[in-house]
Amino acid sequence: MTATNTIENAIVPFVKNAWYIAAWAEELDDGMISRTIMNKPLVIFRDAEGKVGVLEDRCCHRGAPLTHGEVITEGLQCGYHGLVFDTTGACVMIPGQKNIPPDARVTAYPVVEQNQIIWIWTGDPALADESKIVAYPYHDQPDKWPHRKAMFQIKSNYMLMIDNLMDLTHLGYVHTKTIGGNPNQHVAAEMETRPTDNGAYFIRWMLDHKPPPTYVKGGKFEGNVDRWQEFEYVAPSIVLQWSGALEMGKGAKENRDQEGFHLRLLHAATPETETTFHYFWSTSNGYRQDDPQATQEMYEEIYPTFIEDQVIMGVQQDRINLDPDRGLVAIHADSALALGRIAVGKMLEKEQVQVSQAAE
Ligand code: FES
Ligand SMILES: [Fe+2]
Repeated sequence: MTATNTIENAIVPFVKNAWYIAAWAEELDDGMISRTIMNKPLVIFRDAEGKVGVLEDRCCHRGAPLTHGEVITEGLQCGYHGLVFDTTGACVMIPGQKNIPPDARVTAYPVVEQNQIIWIWTGDPALADESKIVAYPYHDQPDKWPHRKAMFQIKSNYMLMIDNLMDLTHLGYVHTKTIGGNPNQHVAAEMETRPTDNGAYFIRWMLDHKPPPTYVKGGKFEGNVDRWQEFEYVAPSIVLQWSGALEMGKGAKENRDQEGFHLRLLHAATPETETTFHYFWSTSNGYRQDDPQATQEMYEEIYPTFIEDQVIMGVQQDRINLDPDRGLVAIHADSALALGRIAVGKMLEKEQVQVSQAAE
């Protein structure tokens, strides 16, 4: 696949040599979860010492799913005949047997827990560089950025989520009941778009704009506002968002860091299959931080917005599935989206080279 046809293809292949969000840390409060990533069923668990492991969800003994077992002091115990595995995938205990054969192990994935997020590396373990993990410090600042997290299943290729986030002109059509506002104002928004080293960046400004219902509730605005949406795509799967509004006349373009309405969102599209993905999202309240009710209300306002996206992407994929190789047409509003697809195309090309080098 070349960078050019990645832009046109509806279904984009997986980029394996990358870090993906596998789970929110709190999902492991009960020990383990089962999750399919890139067609591989995985078990994600926290051992008795608090260490996280991500293993193939298939016992090496007789193939039972390890998620049918339980976490015990020694590790993750298969629920069929009791073999126990540690976070590296090594079998550490076989009931009634002293010697453990060296091939008694399951595939383990490189994993890092950081900022309340469980990150996994899905490609060649030798290339897993922890310094490349996207930092999201807001999760660890509950006084400044109280937050809520969620995860949806979406029935589309992961790249349709990135397309969605990189082209906000959909707000005026898909999200009229929530964060939308007037469609013409969205299309006319002032936009600055540029490529980054590993993705794409844009900021949209809507000046002297009537605030949508969510913003009025959060920021207690009475008149018009200067509103922005800043998005940074870190290919292949992460989008960082800072949206907000200040009362008109406060000089938002010169300095956004003032009291007003501020939202920080983390979006992640982790492929489950070619045509489904896990949508992780987290939203942080940067306007009424000392009010837990405000954080809850923010979450409840945003939740239906993302359900609207889930619906449109699902029906979009249904149509695409009828003829998956058929191309898509670009319009002017797709400039950031196109940069995002170019970034993914480059990663896929690099990965092909790495795979062929590893095979030599
Ligand atoms: S299948 Fe897991 S212990 Fe037998
Ligand atoms: Fe949306």
